Amino acid sequence: MIEVHPTEPIPNPLLDQPGFSLPATLEAEVDELIAHYPQKRSASLMLLHAMQEHFGYISRQAVEWIAAKLALQPINVYELVTFYPMLHQRPVGKYHLRVCRTLSCSLGGAYKLHEHLCEKAGLDPHARGPQTSGDGKYTVEFVECLASCGTAPVMMCNDAFHEGVSEEKADAILAECK
Ligand code: FES
Repeated sequence: MIEVHPTEPIPNPLLDQPGFSLPATLEAEVDELIAHYPQKRSASLMLLHAMQEHFGYISRQAVEWIAAKLALQPINVYELVTFYPMLHQRPVGKYHLRVCRTLSCSLGGAYKLHEHLCEKAGLDPHARGPQTSGDGKYTVEFVECLASCGTAPVMMCNDAFHEGVSEEKADAILAECK
């Protein structure tokens, strides 16, 4: 039988952001975004993007703030954060390296590419999930299909898309990360 401890808080997988508050400019941007939709909840994703652009990631407080603003339950916002890989649940490095590991890229060398990037960034190539280098410069992670299966292996460095990434090409991409 499962024991229930009603006084224990439910663990929340999102990071806490102590002192969370929105500057007036961001709040004005949020109001402007909401005004574009006939139903407030339709602005959920746009608000999440605005939060991420400002804070760098989506915290528990940001989810709760958006939910209250849109008259939703936090779970309605949280499920978006966990569904869309472009939404970060924790801060990422200055350069966010995303390596596709779905079938074509996997067969095309994605695991070797990921390992190479991790080694160059001083990260553990066998660790699970996104990892960020100690200096905050790089975050490396696997993602699912980036919709360019014919040019495997593919990766993204922030918003830039790279196809057919050999180790040499990966080195050139890293060299551009100043
Ligand atoms: S499998 Fe990598 S882009 Fe589709």
